[in-house]
Amino acid sequence: MAADPKAMKIEAARAALGHVEDGMKLGLGTGSTADEFVRLLAEKVAAGMKVVGVPTSVRTEQLARELGIPLATLEEEPALDLTIDGADEIGPGLSLIKGGGGALLREKIVAAASKKMIVIADESKVVETLGAFPLPIEVNQFGLRATMIAIEEAGRRSALTGEIKVREKDGKPFVTDGGHLIVDASFGRIPATKAFADDLNMIPGVVEHGLFIGLASLALVATPGGVKVIDG
Ligand code: A5P
Repeated sequence: MAADPKAMKIEAARAALGHVEDGMKLGLGTGSTADEFVRLLAEKVAAGMKVVGVPTSVRTEQLARELGIPLATLEEEPALDLTIDGADEIGPGLSLIKGGGGALLREKIVAAASKKMIVIADESKVVETLGAFPLPIEVNQFGLRATMIAIEEAGRRSALTGEIKVREKDGKPFVTDGGHLIVDASFGRIPATKAFADDLNMIPGVVEHGLFIGLASLALVATPGGVKVIDG
């Protein structure tokens, strides 16, 4: 297989398609790898496969709609069979960092509403310890400074320090589909992932964070030598 990143994303997405069965209710992830899955799924739908997709972002909704995939909201379909999504990092036990595309809140809600979550990625995403990728944390706009201070304090309790900054796009704060802001925390490696995640969950201004623990059950990781399967 070619080592071209786009080709590897397509191969991981193609492998995920093998887990999709007729009649399934599917969570559709966000990001360039998830986009490849949506494109391949659309081909199956055009060929007669019956599925319904619940998108994790406005961006994915637009793509899936353009390609003719039948869609529902999570209100309409609150129990999903399978979610296919990308990741920014894949760590031990299929712990993940997500949110590089700013969709972590809906991604986590949709994954948690699914019987199974499969992660698709190229091998560059697999790490020994999560945290080289700045951790995206979705925060309420109210009380931003107080929330950022609380995030720094939570970091220190886990022996983590580093720059935290509000994500910007086109020179303005990036606003999520849910109307919140994203704070990217460059704390470096996070060995005590669960303890730090629990601590972040206690901060009132934190809407959700990009540490996904215990949600993914399988990862399909494209390498130049083929797609590697990692079980949770
Ligand atoms: C979106 O918010 C993220 O969680 C994405 O799943 C993540 O950024 C992976 O994106 P790529 O597939 O584009 O690397």
